[in-house]
Amino acid sequence: MTQDELKTLVGQAALNYVTPGSIVGVGTGSTVDKFIDALAASGMAIAGAVSSSQRSTERMRGLGIKILEAAEVTSLPVYIDGADEIDQAGTMIKGGGAALTREKIVADLAERFVCIADESKLVPVLGGFPLPVEVIPMAAAQIARRFAAMGGQATLRAGCVTDNGCQILDVRGLQIREPAAFEAEVSQWPGVVTVGVFARNRASVCLLGTAEGVRTLDFTA
Ligand code: 5RP
Repeated sequence: MTQDELKTLVGQAALNYVTPGSIVGVGTGSTVDKFIDALAASGMAIAGAVSSSQRSTERMRGLGIKILEAAEVTSLPVYIDGADEIDQAGTMIKGGGAALTREKIVADLAERFVCIADESKLVPVLGGFPLPVEVIPMAAAQIARRFAAMGGQATLRAGCVTDNGCQILDVRGLQIREPAAFEAEVSQWPGVVTVGVFARNRASVCLLGTAEGVRTLDFTA
């Protein structure tokens, strides 16, 4: 199966985690696009979706799915999103699509985070994928120096302005062995909007697309 077919497979499988009539948290990316398409094609009636990006909002609106603001809900039963990397504890690197801040906000509203990914995303240690960090432009150089001091090379993502009007640093060369401590530390550096390590908001479940079908990793057990 191609990577695209694996994404279609898990996008479809994620429907099993959506309760008809509920409000669904929806992430961003090519795998989530498959989920959105599957949701629309299924004909399942939902009360609406809280979206993590302009990209997903436009896709869902185009398919007739009602969009609600995060401020309109107090909690969501489920948040469906992809990942750039996920480890055996459900901790992820996210932000390849530059939507990490809104993704973390919507994930934080959800009781359950269902990660959908093809099997190439499962890694023993996070950091092979360049870590996205959304930053206030004024602080970018200062934050890059802090990463250099811990062995990371941070580069500004060219031509990228986030939905929040900020910039993305992509940090290479890190091996993130203690993701929760790393997330807590980097999150408090002045000028950091969001670090793309999702440890506090890690996945509850991962639906992993493999050549043998969907493998379900349950991190709550
Ligand atoms: C966007 C993300 C995506 O979930 C991540 O980049 C995976 O994307 P894709 O499903 O296209 O591989 O974090 O900010």
